[in-house]
Amino acid sequence: MDDAWADLADRFVDGAYASLKGKVRTYVVHHQLLQHLPPPPARILDVGGGAGHQAFPLARAGYEVTVLDPSPAMLERGEALLASEPSEVRERLAFVEARGEDAFRATGGRGFDAVCCHGVLMYVERPEPLVASLCECAAPVGLV
Ligand SMILES: C[S@@+](CC[C@H](N)C(=O)[O-])C[C@H]1O[C@@H](n2cnc3c(N)ncnc32)[C@H](O)[C@@H]1O
Repeated sequence: MDDAWADLADRFVDGAYASLKGKVRTYVVHHQLLQHLPPPPARILDVGGGAGHQAFPLARAGYEVTVLDPSPAMLERGEALLASEPSEVRERLAFVEARGEDAFRATGGRGFDAVCCHGVLMYVERPEPLVASLCECAAPVGLV
């Protein structure tokens, strides 16, 4: 499968996310999320989570996070960043290479306490199958 994000991964990780605006965005999204999530430890699936910028603060806060993304380039940057985290954070964060539309199968059909999908829907041609997949991955009382 072609990696549509191969040329964008460095630009996002070293540019957008590393900028002051990017850091503020990550901080604001994280604190907004905390208002809705169940307390840790809960299991969170971050669909289209890229290099894990939203997942890292969640794992540091005690959540078990799976980042699912179809881009090997984004995941590679995420794995490299994860290597410098303390072991307890590394143990709480996993990267899975798959399209969001295939998330249920790719994660073994587990019901997640929360399913996040941020900054992704605008990039897909048809959002409906992706939205259906997010709902499929959530536990019966889970949050999307
Ligand atoms: C702008 S980044 C957003 C990363 C992260 N969610 C954030 O908010 O910082 C968009 C991500 O969507 C991923 N993506 C594109 N199509 C996707 C799909 N069909 N399913 C899941 N992720 C997809 C890309 O690989 C990329 O990592």
